[in-house]
Amino acid sequence: MSADPRDPGAAERLAVWERHADWWRETFTGGADPEYENEILPSIAAELSRATRVLDLGCGEGQVARYVLASGLAACGLVGCDRSAAQLANAQLADAQLAGSPAPVYVRGEGERLPFAAGSFDAVLCALVIEHAEDVDAVLGEVARVLAPGGRFVLLVNHPLLQGSGSGIVDDRILGETYWRVGPYLDEVVTWEDVDAGVRIPFAHRPLSRYVNPLAERDLVCTPMLEPAPPAELLAGSVDPDLERAIPRLLVMRFEHRPALPVAPAASCAPDACDDQEGRSSRRG
Ligand SMILES: C[S@@+](CC[C@H](N)C(=O)[O-])C[C@H]1O[C@@H](n2cnc3c(N)ncnc32)[C@H](O)[C@@H]1O
Repeated sequence: MSADPRDPGAAERLAVWERHADWWRETFTGGADPEYENEILPSIAAELSRATRVLDLGCGEGQVARYVLASGLAACGLVGCDRSAAQLANAQLADAQLAGSPAPVYVRGEGERLPFAAGSFDAVLCALVIEHAEDVDAVLGEVARVLAPGGRFVLLVNHPLLQGSGSGIVDDRILGETYWRVGPYLDEVVTWEDVDAGVRIPFAHRPLSRYVNPLAERDLVCTPMLEPAPPAELLAGSVDPDLERAIPRLLVMRFEHRPALPVAPAASCAPDACDDQEGRSSRRG
């Protein structure tokens, strides 16, 4: 992966979410952001139906965790894990205002080294976090480790094809043309983006295969995905709302953990063993 020449270094990368935790809370939580309200939170709820033990990896200030619990999902509890102390402090503050509602348990930790035993969760959720993680292979390996067989991984990312570094709307007034430019898709690159006044955040762009393939190697199989159109509120100031309506910002993927079963050698298959094989394969579904 190539680094942005403006990359201020590892210490600053770690400090980003400590410094900007209040900006995140004020700009994207508590109903401030139409994309969270209208798309991200409802999509997560739909993907988590019937989940019982949920890990919210990169939980930030806990808005997703609170929403999942308030929706009656995660019957056996929800753990939010994040590496930023400032984000977790804001999560505790927000939870203190929940009168009598179930609250998440928060644990400070890194996605690359999750502090949980193997098979601890039947659902792991990761919303707009993986773009900020440096070692994607380590994070995905940890997700697979802490998921129980049959569990699911719900991954929400900025759309890797259409929202990568260098992508965006181009309003060419000389040619009289508006179009969507796609940046160099196959290049893995970290860019520091100025997302607001005084807020610069690193985003890792990776092609989609960098998420799907390491998970497939760990028996996490991709199920049908969602590519929602941007909410109307976000198109209000666009130079070409009709064009932007057809360009998804978000990609929602669900992976199911389907560990392969050992296959008995057919030649040595005694009648009893065949019965056993049939039993096992029907459970696999
Ligand atoms: C954009 S915020 C999203 C927060 C939350 N998922 C939400 O949707 O509201 C990204 C969060 O990911 C956390 N994060 C980034 N890389 C991480 C890593 N490697 N391990 C744990 N947390 C990480 C940051 O500290 C930050 O709180």
